[in-house]
Amino acid sequence: MNIQENISLKKYNTFGIAVNAKRFISVASVYELQQLLKVEKNIFLISGGSNMLLTKDIEALVVHLDIKGISIDREDDNTIYLTVNAGENWHELVIWCVSNNYGGIENLSLIPGNVGTCPIQNIGAYGVEVKDTITKVEALEIETGKLIQFSNESCNFEYRNSLFKNKEKGKYIITAVSFQLTKRNHNLNSSYGAIESELIAKKITKPSLKDISDAVIAVRRSKLPDPKEIGNSGSFFKNPVIPKSKFLELQKEYPKAPSYNVSKTEVKVPAGWLIEQAGFKGKRFGDYGVYEKQALVLVNYGNATGKEIYKLAQKIQETIMQKFGISLEIEVNII
Ligand code: EPU
Repeated sequence: MNIQENISLKKYNTFGIAVNAKRFISVASVYELQQLLKVEKNIFLISGGSNMLLTKDIEALVVHLDIKGISIDREDDNTIYLTVNAGENWHELVIWCVSNNYGGIENLSLIPGNVGTCPIQNIGAYGVEVKDTITKVEALEIETGKLIQFSNESCNFEYRNSLFKNKEKGKYIITAVSFQLTKRNHNLNSSYGAIESELIAKKITKPSLKDISDAVIAVRRSKLPDPKEIGNSGSFFKNPVIPKSKFLELQKEYPKAPSYNVSKTEVKVPAGWLIEQAGFKGKRFGDYGVYEKQALVLVNYGNATGKEIYKLAQKIQETIMQKFGISLEIEVNII
């Protein structure tokens, strides 16, 4: 086992935060991981590092999950069943599926991170959530080293949430995810405002998987910072769900306030809009701030610390509470 000492984690997290790992190891197979777990129980897992804000050095052994490989389990004329190992890059998988005409995840193009983390927060964008294509999640139970298969139902998927983020947090290491994708009669989802406008602008009336993926990529590039250029973790907060009655009050003061219906009694309000109204959009403090084109995204312009960004997040939460009486929940894992 090749354990390295005092390794900077800057390149292992998309926020680009330079905390150190006292001890660090890269693991390339489930077997290696099982062997490691026999001797090390206090581990900190890092995969794509796309949904975490590191605020301190890591004392536990940092395990970089680098298990690669895609396999086709079975297929018929309509459907393909794939199992993808946790260390595969999410966006590369999407592009591979689109180029093979496998449908279902094209709307999730360009989401940072690896396959193993996609079920944890049930990644979603432009009207699609990954839970709709997942058939099975394979995970190692840290305590016993046993491989466990979770059916879709047993993952308890919700909006930006699952069993792995909630009830069983820290108990398992996801090693592979299985997907069910369409080979024809794709269930295309092109009605999300920004995607529809992009397709109309390109005069595309019957979009292919690639047209949708290209439209998503164009929209994301125009609104969201590329972590390779500006450190970030995507949406820092969840969009809050509030009672309709409260939203009607908000509308009296802000007639243009956007919302999505959740149920008969509740609506979701875009956190980005609330943060913009509170005057934070585009604000820069030293090396960190709120992204200029999407207020839901906090950014590291170079050498910010996790603590600084977390403080800003708390300031935003307090301001939104004072101004609107709405509680903003942080979506990113604060370490
Ligand atoms: N808005 C503003 N100001 C802003 C940002 C947004 O007024 O600075 C308003 C927009 O005008 C629009 C509404 O908020 O009316 C929604 O904006 P957008 O379409 O950008 O989506 P979002 O609700 O802000 C969510 C996801 C994103 C995902 C997009 C598209 C969450 C927490 N975020 O953002 O996910 O890409 O929808 O589906 O649900 C991520 O999780 O990392 C992420 C980027």
